[in-house]
Amino acid sequence: MFSWLEKNPFFFAVAVFVVIAYAGIVEVLPNFTENARPIEGKKPYTVLQLAGRQIYIKESCNACHSQLIRPFKSETDRYGMYSVSGEFAYDRPFLWGSKRTGPDLMRVGSYRTTDWHENHMWEPTSVVPHSIMPAYKHMFKNDADIETAYAEALTVKKVFNVPYDVPGGVKLGSWKDAQEEVKAEAQTIVDEMKNEEVKKAFAKGEIKEIVALIAYLNSLK
Ligand code: HEC
Repeated sequence: MFSWLEKNPFFFAVAVFVVIAYAGIVEVLPNFTENARPIEGKKPYTVLQLAGRQIYIKESCNACHSQLIRPFKSETDRYGMYSVSGEFAYDRPFLWGSKRTGPDLMRVGSYRTTDWHENHMWEPTSVVPHSIMPAYKHMFKNDADIETAYAEALTVKKVFNVPYDVPGGVKLGSWKDAQEEVKAEAQTIVDEMKNEEVKKAFAKGEIKEIVALIAYLNSLK
């Protein structure tokens, strides 16, 4: 029936395009519906959390960890409620990942704590005896890049209308305001940490990468 199509390269190309475009639309369209609106109570990342997220991307944590819980009992039993698209509304880029060498981290903030992360990132085997995850000791030395994180927040606010500075939401304000916010948030994390270098540096006004990373991991709920 369609042999005439196979013999006509032009119409065949058009037909291939139509079929692929249709399949694409079926996948993409749901993301423009109510489904993809931020779920209720979802707030944009704070500047400190964004700095942590940038570290997560820089270190390729997503090469070993997914952030997407599928609707299967085996997954929801282990990680909690499956993911819905509205939860990713402020994620740019998405960090769904495609490989799980380690566990999914979508809701790791609901069952791990600051001090657990501190021990784990310093030396994973100290809390998970047979862990094959690498240690990230350099994060206790390197400073977090708060300025770039602030620039990212400003950019997504402007370009994607991410709702910063709305009543009851996350405050962004001027660079000076943002630095104050970051400091206050970092304080709550440093208070729960034991690493003396990180504490001393914080007293001098430096925020180490580990502090930002933990702020980000704690926000994953
Ligand atoms: C080479 C692969 C690999 C990389 C890269 C990696 N991890 Fe892991 N991660 C693992 C494995 C395996 C585990 C499970 C064992 C353990 O808990 O240490 C794990 C566990 C974890 C856990 C505990 C999760 C839970 O539910 O107990 C956290 C949190 C975590 N990783 C965060 C990170 C972060 C943040 C980075 C990037 C800085 C990172 N990982 C990079 C392999 C990796």
